[in-house]
Order: sequence, then structure tokens, then C-alpha cells
Amino acid sequence: MKTSLPLSPRRAPAASRRALALLAALACGGVAAQTELTIDLAKPGIPVSTALYGLMTEEINYSYDGGLYAELLRNRSFKDDPSEPVHWSVVQDAGGAGTLALDPGQPVPRTALTTSLRLDATGARTGHRVAITNDGYWGIPLKPDTTYRASFYARTAGAGGVPLTVSLEGNDGKTVYAKAQGGPIDGQWRRYSVTLHTAAGLAPTAAARFVIATESPGTLWFNLVSLFPPTYHDRPNGNRVDLMQKLVDMKPRFLRFPGGNYLEGETVDTRFKWKQTLGPLAQRPGHPGTWNYRSSDGMGLLEFLEWCEDMHAEPVLAVFAGYALKGETIPAGPGLQPFVDEALDEIEYVTGDVSTKWGAQRARDGHPAPFKLRYVEIGNEDGFDRQKTYDGRYTQFHDAIKAKYPQLKLIATAGGKDSVGVRQAVTSRTPDLVDEHYYYGALQMMHDAGRYDSYARGGPKIFIGEWAAREGAPTTNLISALADAAWMTGMERNADVVEMACYAPLLVNVNPGGMQWKSDLIGYDAQTSYGSPSYHAQKMFSHYLGEQSLALTARNVPTQTWQPPAKKDQAAPPPQQVPTLFFSATRSSARGELYLKVVNALGNAKSVQVALAGAAQVAPEGQAITLRSDRPEDTNTITAPDKIVPVTTTARGLGPSFRYSFAPYSVTVLVLKLGRR
Ligand code: AHR
Repeated sequence: MKTSLPLSPRRAPAASRRALALLAALACGGVAAQTELTIDLAKPGIPVSTALYGLMTEEINYSYDGGLYAELLRNRSFKDDPSEPVHWSVVQDAGGAGTLALDPGQPVPRTALTTSLRLDATGARTGHRVAITNDGYWGIPLKPDTTYRASFYARTAGAGGVPLTVSLEGNDGKTVYAKAQGGPIDGQWRRYSVTLHTAAGLAPTAAARFVIATESPGTLWFNLVSLFPPTYHDRPNGNRVDLMQKLVDMKPRFLRFPGGNYLEGETVDTRFKWKQTLGPLAQRPGHPGTWNYRSSDGMGLLEFLEWCEDMHAEPVLAVFAGYALKGETIPAGPGLQPFVDEALDEIEYVTGDVSTKWGAQRARDGHPAPFKLRYVEIGNEDGFDRQKTYDGRYTQFHDAIKAKYPQLKLIATAGGKDSVGVRQAVTSRTPDLVDEHYYYGALQMMHDAGRYDSYARGGPKIFIGEWAAREGAPTTNLISALADAAWMTGMERNADVVEMACYAPLLVNVNPGGMQWKSDLIGYDAQTSYGSPSYHAQKMFSHYLGEQSLALTARNVPTQTWQPPAKKDQAAPPPQQVPTLFFSATRSSARGELYLKVVNALGNAKSVQVALAGAAQVAPEGQAITLRSDRPEDTNTITAPDKIVPVTTTARGLGPSFRYSFAPYSVTVLVLKLGRR
């Protein structure tokens, strides 16, 4: 469900101030009984899904365009605004004169490039250049000794022979960082490309612009004007290196794409039409996104799959299921069948060999090898469908997909009690998994961290496909990280129910106007990026995860009082008690290690007496990885990216029974070395 700022109370029910005050009050509390934790190593424990922690992504907060997708020019195909060439302007040097306009009368033949940029360089002459210039996504980031690849379609009004100069320069045009000759162009539409190399001594800057200039008078047209820096794994049309590295560092087991609301579209016609995201960029029309800006579709279906490949993560493919955000619904029946067929084609594009129609298309697009696919999600948040048509729609997709691909696990998007969306269950078929979404304030997240402890077993497995504690903006702060970690201990304790989970949203461009959804995991501007405390908590949980989740019992866990917010026009609900310490323990038999995860949500250190019941041997020394800060509202920012990061120390005095003091406001992973069983 899309919300606009300010947030609806449903999405941010606990105000930061109240949460922080409550935590502070508890921090000053009286002497408490010793907290005791017993972990049962005598029993094998429950298997932890190999796919537990993954990533969720969609085009929101300039996640791809202006984010992960490495294209540096904004509005490269001139469709972002139908009335003017936004982010483009004219350069008129030393008295050279010219004007810019959108020109729908000059499409590039046999492409999706329907509107061109027209430059009337009437006053251009030698020494008096006239140029088009682009300001990028909040600047164009330049680094020293780096090669940039520029390309564009162009033609002139006359027969031709017009040379062009392509450059990267300072915003005032005085400093030229890199320059190359382009063209000469003529009266036919052609594609040109040049490389631009910056000097070794360049100080990194984003105060730069991209320029294509002429010194000959006349009319010129341009389209698909593009500039790429080096990309992750040097993929053409690839991804930004620093952001990819942050994602790879999370060790994600899967990537859920392409949404989110972005899958659905505001209307059926503006859904993610995967067939229009394939092949050469000139063939991709782009489409209006669901978060108030247009998508270039440079990040198309194959790019999503290659992104998975680069992270060694498996795709979780969400297919459009006949429900769009503004409520348009296509009920089950013959009218839905084309969309079912579209999903079957999509699965074939991902998994089919080159003898299949769509597998052959994938090969033509540059990737002959099929991708491994285990999970397909039918729609997104279909619980919001007020016509309540999802049961029928799900059934039609389920039957068709299972008939052709019986090995695939199918995920339904409506079900989960209290998860986001109007509750409506799928009853006619049994999905393999149900996707539940939870966006809460920090204290509610902590309160609900035990949700799956008492969850009914025997039904579909749970995919927590979107969730987050939402305090702090643009990226979340420490109290959110504590609440997230508390919630993840609940996932790990209940690994028999929770098969997969991914936090959302993943990415946010922190520039003014870059954020549509407050509280995100990774922030960036044109030049640099950083992980929120929640990002580091995710990494810790993903890195230190065993194959079995061990039963544990905690005694004398202090609690704090949480006042749930009142619903509109209703009395305040009764206050609730919320634990302040949270635990999970997983064992890796392969590595001979036990990972004890502990969250201390209070402002004082908390000593816990730990018993490892049934442990043969425990090494006296292990590791402690701790994420903490002095105040729960502390956070990381683009200018202070590493204020809160995990610190690894040696943990001493460990054994079958030991006491450990957990730092105030901390997430800790204790790595214990076990004797072989
Ligand atoms: O994560 C932001 C949005 O929240 C997603 O697009 C949607 O699925 C959910 O309502």
C-alpha cells in the first residue's frame, strides 16, 4: 500500500519520542533479578531455511534511476516531463546562441525513442559553442583516473558533417575534466559513442555536468543520451559499484523483485510490463512508476536476474496478478488468462532453455544460460483488493503455474493475521508460502517479536517479504536497529515457520526530493553511500546464522510498558508489557559454532547468566560482535556514515555456563566454539 508523507498512523504507530522516553525511564529502573538463559544443545534443534535472509527491491526513493542503476544522466530519453526537457539546459558560450525544445515530431525510427531533444544552435560558430547539458541525479559524480562511456543518438537538419565535442566539466563550464570528439553527425539518425577519461589528479566531485557541444550553426536532434561510469563486474548497462558491494556484503540468499507497489502499477496499464524491459535500451519505452517519478526501465528483467547472479542470490520473482494500486482488478476467468500467460512466459524467460521461445529471447538478450528459480510470488499485497477477488485470481495462477512448473514454490500475498492489508485468506488452494508485511514503530516491533512463538503450525510457511521498524529518516536509527534485531530473533527461534524474510525498503537517495518512503536501509547521494544501524544489524544476522535453531528459555527478562496508539476515533488500547532483552541461538554443525544473538534495548548494561545445556565442550574464548551507541536516536548519515558499526572483540570466560554483560542499547552476536558432536 502506498502512503504519502506524512506517514499514516498505521505505518508509524509508535512515535520516536514516546518510545525513547519509555526506554530511558526503564533504564533508570530498580534492582532486577538475574536474567537467566538456558539453551538446549542436547536436542538437534530445528532446521533453519537456507533462504532465510534476502533482499526486497523496487523502484522507490530513486532506488534504480538515480541509485543502483549506474546511468548518470537524468531524463536520457526526454519522457520524464511531457512539457519540457527537465534536467537539460542549453549552454551558450561567448555569445553563441541557441534554444532547446522537446520534439515529438522527430522519433528515432524503429525504436521506442518517440520524443527527441531539439537544439537550434543558430548562433554557434567557431569559438562560440552552443551545447546541451545535463545535471544528472543531484550532480554527476566524477572520480580520478576513471573512464566514462557516453553514447547518444543524433542527427542534423542538413546533409551532415557536423563535428561535436563531448565533455565532462565543472558546473560553471570553466574546468574541463574530460573531453572527446563525437560525430561528425549527419542527416540520418545514428548512434555514437565516446569514452571520457578523467585525470589522475582529479579531486572527486559531483559538482559537474555533461555537455555535447557544436560550433556550427544549425538544428540538431538528440535521443537516448547516456553516460556510464565503471560498473560492478564491468557489466554493460550495469550497477553502481559501492551500492552493489554493500548489498553483496549482506550475503543475501535471494532478491525479491520487482516490487512492491512497483510491480502492480497505479493502473493495470502502468504495471511492470516485463516484456517492455528487454533488449537494447532504445527498445524500452519506460513507464510511469508508482512513486511519483518515471522509470527508464534500464533496470529490466534481465538486469534484475544478473543482479541476483552478481550477488550469488536466487531470484524471488513476483508476477503481476491482476490487481493495481488504485483498485483496478481483473477477476478470475478468461479476462485474467492473458496475465496468467504473461506470467508463464516470464517464468520461461527466466528458466527456459534456448529451445523455448522465451529462453531463446533471453539468449538473444545476452544470457543463454537459464537462471535457477524456486520461488514465484503471485501479486503484491492483494489483501488490499476491496473486491476480494484474490482467492480466485490466486487459484487461476496457482493451477496454471503448478501444471507447467510443479517444482516451483508459490507465494500468496494475502493471509497473515495483522500483516499489512485488509485480511482475506486464500482458501481454494494451499500456497507454499504466505507473504506477510509488517511496518511498525520500534516498541511495537519489539512487542511483536514473539509473534511466531505462538503461531499455528501446519499451514503454509511464512515469507516476511517486507518489514521494518520505522524510526529515523531518511535511514533508520539505532532504536529501529534494536527493534529489527529483536524481530529477527523471533524469526530465528521460529525457523520452522519463517522460511524467508527481507527488509524494506532497501535503498534511498538522501538528496532533497529523493525519498518517498521515510525510513530506509541504505542511503546515498551521487558520490557515496552508507548503511544505517539497521543495515549493520541485518548483516550481523545474515553472517552469523547456523543450520539449526536451538530451543531456549529465558527467565527474569525485564519488561517495559508500551502504550499502543489509539485507532482513529477509538479509545486508547490498554498498555502492553514489552520485553527488553531478546534472544536467539543457532548452531552451525559444519563450523562447530554457536551463534547467540542478544538484543539489549535498555540504556544500562545487562548481565545474563547463560547455560548451554548438553554442551560437550565450549571453548573459553570466542568472539563478540557488538553494534551499539550511547543514545537510541543515534544514527549514521551521509556525512557520518560509520558512527554506528559492529565492533568485533574477543569474548572471554565462556563455557557451558557463563555470565556475560550486554552493553546498553546493543545488538550482540556471541560466537562460541563448540566441541564436535
Ligand atoms: O515498501 C514500500 C511499500 O510498502 C511497498 O511498495 C508495498 O508493497 C508496501 O505497502
